[in-house]
Amino acid sequence: MTVYLNGNYLPAADARISIEDRGFLFADGVYEVIRVYDGRPFLADPHYNRLREGLAAIRITGVAVKDLAIAADRLLELNGLRDAEATIYIQVTRGAAPRRHSFPDAGVSPTVLVTASHFKQHPAAYWDDGVAAMSVPDTRWSRCDIKSIALLPNVLANQQARQAGAFEALFVRDGVFVEGSHSNLAGVIDDTIVTYPACNYILPGITRRYVLAMARDIGLEAREGMIRVEDVGTVQELFLTGTTTEVMPITRLDGRPVGDGRPGPVARRLQQLYRDRVDAMRTADVA
Ligand code: PDD
Repeated sequence: MTVYLNGNYLPAADARISIEDRGFLFADGVYEVIRVYDGRPFLADPHYNRLREGLAAIRITGVAVKDLAIAADRLLELNGLRDAEATIYIQVTRGAAPRRHSFPDAGVSPTVLVTASHFKQHPAAYWDDGVAAMSVPDTRWSRCDIKSIALLPNVLANQQARQAGAFEALFVRDGVFVEGSHSNLAGVIDDTIVTYPACNYILPGITRRYVLAMARDIGLEAREGMIRVEDVGTVQELFLTGTTTEVMPITRLDGRPVGDGRPGPVARRLQQLYRDRVDAMRTADVA
């Protein structure tokens, strides 16, 4: 596999990052994941824009994101992924410098990594039959809107879910479901789609925004609001949204069925529409 590191294309095995890299020492960086269908990146622009915002939020300067987009396209080519199901991964850290909490002196360049690799799809049953989720306390910081590489709480929560036989861990803050360890959450309450407000307690998911817009396009009611733990018994549907999860129904939560225990009609429609949009992109002529 060929990767892009700090302006160079090189075999992954030859890509070297300093032991003083601030990503390694402090998780001082941000990242993006973009899904590629048939060699075509889906919703790439919003992902690159979010990366720009993340870099600005943590004050990393001097990264030309448009060059990373070019690098990502080139890697799809170099790695034989022009017709493949793949993901693009981008990570930018504050660079390598002697360990000190405050920013390094001027002249230290950010570390920039881009990879493009085959995407190993989840089993189709996850989308068709729904998945299990488990609730966990949200132990994260209060800037979850930044797509930080500091993912330890997400890693621990996801592992806990996995060990319990669940696909996703749902973070609970003050009695309210906020989002998953690697996806956003939506529910259907009183026939309306409800998802936690885009604020500092969740990542403003690209898929979340896209799915909300899609829902409104087809006349479904959708609003930002709270899904409370105490109300979960009356929630009609729950589903996840995310770059690699797409629209995935949750049919069991903490061992109990959600709604009637089967994927609901809203999740089904959105799932289908999402796939239709992806298919439209697959077959669209690209200049
Ligand atoms: N995760 N919330 C969290 C905490 C996430 O990590 C993600 C994405 C999402 C969904 O965002 P989007 O729709 O923009 O992918 C929500 C990526 C895919 C990951 O870490 O692998």
